[in-house]
Amino acid sequence: MNSNLSETVRIDLADRSYDIVIGEDLFSQASTYQNLPKASAALIVSNTTVAPLYEAALKQALSGHYKVIHTIHLPDGEAHKDWVTLNLIFDALLGHACDRKTVLFALGGGVVGDMTGFAAASFMRGVPFVQVPTTLLAQVDSSVGGKTAINHPMGKNMIGAFYQPQRVVCDLSVLKTLPAREVSAGLAEIIKYGPIADMPFFEWIDAHIDELRACEPKAMAHAVRKSCEIKAYVVGQDEREAGLRAILNFGHTFGHAIEAGLGYGEWLHGEAVGCGMVMAAHLSQAMGLIDEPFVQRLTGLIARAGLPTKGPVLNEKDNAGQYLALMLHDKKSVAGDIQFVLIEGPGKARVSAAPEAMVRAVIDRCCA
Ligand code: NAD
Ligand code: GLY
Repeated sequence: MNSNLSETVRIDLADRSYDIVIGEDLFSQASTYQNLPKASAALIVSNTTVAPLYEAALKQALSGHYKVIHTIHLPDGEAHKDWVTLNLIFDALLGHACDRKTVLFALGGGVVGDMTGFAAASFMRGVPFVQVPTTLLAQVDSSVGGKTAINHPMGKNMIGAFYQPQRVVCDLSVLKTLPAREVSAGLAEIIKYGPIADMPFFEWIDAHIDELRACEPKAMAHAVRKSCEIKAYVVGQDEREAGLRAILNFGHTFGHAIEAGLGYGEWLHGEAVGCGMVMAAHLSQAMGLIDEPFVQRLTGLIARAGLPTKGPVLNEKDNAGQYLALMLHDKKSVAGDIQFVLIEGPGKARVSAAPEAMVRAVIDRCCA
């Protein structure tokens, strides 16, 4: 491995443990892929945007490890995170007569990563896969922890599996080609870790937000490593979200409603989460858990990250009702009760239901 340049964060999950390697110019090095499960074939799953940028270099790096390397390019975008696109991966695997040792490589953002992971979990009841995340959001969140899924028109990430990768390769150099809007979307998931788990990290993000937006390498390396460490700790405690892991969904209950309500892809996932965190913070304040200055501080940081802080109107007649109907499909809902991740105090989160009138008031206040 490129030991001078890379750092490693370990995800500790007994026989499903693995490393997240973080550094510059990693994904294109053959050494990055040493000691993965032995196989004669690999399939690189990417999309029509990322493949032209990075697939040839990945293929070259893998060429000493596999006799044959197949590729498939999925259509780009959240709107394609569905059965039809997932099936293209199975078509490729079967069309190339891949066996149950074939290793899948997810080269792309969270959409490619979530779909490749789900395909790996289900092809021949499970084949190994490696995450090579190419967006900031995927490096700090989606590639880590083994949640894989596709969307359903009625709910986000509704069909999927917990299935851990063999390795995660966070190469900071690929972020250079990421559009500014996508960098901001990734910052939403980085900011998330502060209020739920680590206020010193929140303070650090607040002080370095401009460097992060500019993808300054030193700041980015710190933010990616710290985010992965926090996520690794939480996933190590609660792999299948029996409890603690749900705090990683701060902002997601409102955010998923925005994504589904507007139609997938209209707002980026990170944008919906950013705005969702503002709404969840207001709800936490309404519940008496945090004070107004903290809500304003978090809102200000989200705005400085380039993210929306006002929710969209999803229904002119009964906007709050529309949000509530969509949030009922959230995976955390229990017996018709929507569960929210609330900030219990800076750096600490809990999951609980909230009175409907209070949720309605927050939606009314937070939507433009
Ligand atoms: P994305 O995968 O759609 O990627 C964003 C855009 O950037 C796409 O157009 C993509 O082609 C492009 N792109 C990717 N890498 C690039 C690069 N290096 N240079 C230029 N363009 C590049 O979106 P995302 O924000 O990465 O991921 C969002 C998805 O992740 C959502 O579906 C969300 O549900 C999922 N997610 C999953 C988890 C999890 O735990 N599994 C956690 C958070 C989010
Ligand atoms: N992104 C939420 C989780 O991984 O649990």
